[in-house]
Amino acid sequence: MTYLSGDIHIRAMNFLEVRPLRLEVLRAGMANQSVEFDGDDEATTVHLGAFDETEVNIGVSSWMQRPFQPEPDLKALQLRGMATAVHLQRHGVGALLLEAGLNHAQENGFAVIWANARDAALNFYNRHGYTTVGEGFIESVTQLPHHKVVKYLLR
Ligand SMILES: CC(C)(COP(=O)(O)OP(=O)(O)OC[C@H]1O[C@@H](n2cnc3c(N)ncnc32)[C@H](O)[C@@H]1OP(=O)(O)O)[C@@H](O)C(=O)NCCC(=O)NCCS
Repeated sequence: MTYLSGDIHIRAMNFLEVRPLRLEVLRAGMANQSVEFDGDDEATTVHLGAFDETEVNIGVSSWMQRPFQPEPDLKALQLRGMATAVHLQRHGVGALLLEAGLNHAQENGFAVIWANARDAALNFYNRHGYTTVGEGFIESVTQLPHHKVVKYLLR
């Protein structure tokens, strides 16, 4: 924990800046090294990054306006590309990114946040108020088991 004793700050990034950490964390050891997401450069997409006191990027998350299919009339935000630098996981960086994304959602009138969550990260999302919904599935790029998670903001 000493490494993170200084300030961690969260700020918006552009879509090119988030890709190195996506590659390092989310594509490690995988055949498919693609880190470009459909919607990365849309005007409504927000990329939020965590930085240590020396401006090293230690976490990324991307928030895209995308319908939540079971309730397509709700203004919905999809969280994608959530990743914390491997050596700094379980130090609270992810929690800070979720909090920043939630603030963004609330400030912009989103009714729901959802994600296709890796099963390995389900506890993390559940602890932050995201409910697991539906059947599990294998996500095509990573070939890892996933579930949808959802958090309603206006109910
Ligand atoms: C999932 C992920 C984004 C979470 O980010 P993180 O920075 O590790 O998140 P946090 O540190 O806030 O919380 C993670 C866990 O560490 C625990 N934790 C946080 N600070 C801690 C501390 N000081 N001491 C011990 N545990 C701590 C949290 O309670 C949480 O536990 P839980 O998962 O059982 O709920 C990160 O682990 C990651 O990048 N994993 C690999 C990629 C991945 O799976 N991404 C998600 C794709 S859907």
